[in-house]
Amino acid sequence: MIESSKVHKILYGGDYNPEQWPEEIWKEDMRLFKLAHIDVVTLNVFSWAALQPDEITYDFSKLDKIMEYVKENGLKVCFATSTGAHPAWMARKYPDILRVGHNGMKRKFGARHNSCPNSPTYRKYSVALAAKLAERYKDYDNIVAWHISNEYGGECYCENCEKAFRVWLHKKYGTLDELNRVWNTSFWGHTFYDWDDVVLPDMRSEEFNWDGIRTNFQGISLDYRRFNSDSILDCYKLERDAVKEYTPDIPVTTNLMGTFKGLDYFKWAKEMDVVSWDNYPSYDTLWSSIAMTHDLMRGLKDEPFMLMEQTPSQQNWQKYNSLKRPGQMRAQSYQTLAHGADTIQFFQLRRSVGGCEKFHGAVIAHVGNENTRVFREVAQLGAELERFGDYTLGSRNEAEVGLIFDWDNYWALEYTSGPSEDLKYVDQIHQYYQYFYKKNIGVDMIPVDADFSKYKIVVAPVLYMVKDGMKEALENFVKNGGILITTFMSGIVGQSDNVYLGGYPGPLREMAGVWVEEIDALAPEQKNKAKFADGSTAACGLLCDLMHLEGAKALASYEEDFYAGMPAASKNTYGKGTTYYIATQFEEEGLAKILDQAVQEARVSSVIPEETGLEVVTRVSDTTRFYFVMNFTDEEQILPESLTGKKDMISGKMTEH
Ligand code: GLA
Ligand code: ZN
Repeated sequence: MIESSKVHKILYGGDYNPEQWPEEIWKEDMRLFKLAHIDVVTLNVFSWAALQPDEITYDFSKLDKIMEYVKENGLKVCFATSTGAHPAWMARKYPDILRVGHNGMKRKFGARHNSCPNSPTYRKYSVALAAKLAERYKDYDNIVAWHISNEYGGECYCENCEKAFRVWLHKKYGTLDELNRVWNTSFWGHTFYDWDDVVLPDMRSEEFNWDGIRTNFQGISLDYRRFNSDSILDCYKLERDAVKEYTPDIPVTTNLMGTFKGLDYFKWAKEMDVVSWDNYPSYDTLWSSIAMTHDLMRGLKDEPFMLMEQTPSQQNWQKYNSLKRPGQMRAQSYQTLAHGADTIQFFQLRRSVGGCEKFHGAVIAHVGNENTRVFREVAQLGAELERFGDYTLGSRNEAEVGLIFDWDNYWALEYTSGPSEDLKYVDQIHQYYQYFYKKNIGVDMIPVDADFSKYKIVVAPVLYMVKDGMKEALENFVKNGGILITTFMSGIVGQSDNVYLGGYPGPLREMAGVWVEEIDALAPEQKNKAKFADGSTAACGLLCDLMHLEGAKALASYEEDFYAGMPAASKNTYGKGTTYYIATQFEEEGLAKILDQAVQEARVSSVIPEETGLEVVTRVSDTTRFYFVMNFTDEEQILPESLTGKKDMISGKMTEH
């Protein structure tokens, strides 16, 4: 948490790049920041080239000025280490820093987030810079957080990475025999005789399928993903340790990207003092999906987080960069706070003059003054947040439902060849999240090794990979009265992507009380139908498990095709609890029918008793329960009765029906 003696309100501000502007402008920036109630700036994100113009020279003169200037102006600093883009001289002199792409092509200097994570040059100089920054600025008491690098991600397939991969594998598996066993290399004669036979799964090795997404050898690809996430994490840790030497008390973060596929954020979060993330929904992103991503970011540490970036209005890199409608940024910000943020920060404060971000929204537009709609909206929100003081800081979200999210599953499921290319991990998770969202039932996004006993319901959609220890943990949860909801494509493989023999859903079979014999894949234009006990029907598709009950009770059965009459959803009593198994992808109403039963059985309650079109979320501090009430529909909504007679923190008045 950004729980520091230096922070007494919701920090409000964002990325500020004064080094890209003449100094005369800085004064105007300060005037405008005050008008907008901005109190934090993220500095120094892309300044490596300026700070280290050659191998032996460091030049902090401009940064010194900036640091002094923002301090004099009462601003707090989220201090970046600048290592998200290496200087051109470094690429010229030390080509090992340049990544090799998936196509095997060695990159030249360019873009950003461009360094090979296993490059000795990158590691040496990024750490040196981080240490120098920490040593030089350690006494600035307005630094509220270290922001290491920027939006880590990407992959590298260079020789250094290949060598490091072999070392990583050696450490993990000990012997080649074991490696051959877990990767099941007898398939397609892949047996490795020497560690050097192991090559990275890029386009040259053709371990990728025709679609470039699914792979031939899931074991290799999966381990490469894990290795790559670990390699980049090592870079982060090295910089973190370097700044901690000088400033042990300043929290360290790096800005994450929600459901970004490349890095195992649960693992990363263990190394971070506070999670921060960048929220860039598109014009068509569902509010439920944004809410889920916030909950995931909160779930990484099960603590409040920082919103490091959002645009005040427009984007530049999306397909259609529509404006945020009047009030939309404000609503999005409140939703962010509702789901656990303690800061609201923008990218960026002043709109760029050149480069690809010149059309990216900013607090200060190209016109350069306060007379814009966007500025007025930013200032209004700034004033509101200022009035809240520290009330909401550190307050917790509450949930009786835990929804499992797991990067290993994300990778493995989407790498797997078959049964359907339309099976997308995040979409599947979101379908379940959305049900609870619409009912205003709080959800925690949890890792596979969470303490399940905290929850009445644990939802594990497409729990394709069941890692060691999980079977027991889930069984204990259900035996002790918990309700587990799982679905098709669950319990199929172990942690190396080899199938559990003896029938699907493998380790979940006993607690689910079903045996899945076959899995049918339906094309988008194909549908089946399922009939419930009350006679109602619901469309279903994508995948249809052909399953047999082994003690479970059918909740719905297929209506069509040669498997008509077979169960499409079931429930099984196991110990004191119940396992629901949903064998196909139901359309929304059908899914709700099943989940309603689970919710009733578990006695899980909504935040408020009324049904409403509003989003209502609570956070709780030691003394106060806060309700965040948001209207994301196009219609006016009535304030539910149960929310009347409370103090409205924005207007200061009592709420009325
Ligand atoms: C990312 C980066 C920023 C900026 C924004 C633009 O989040 O971290 O530097 O490029 O995207 O949306
Ligand atoms: Zn590399």
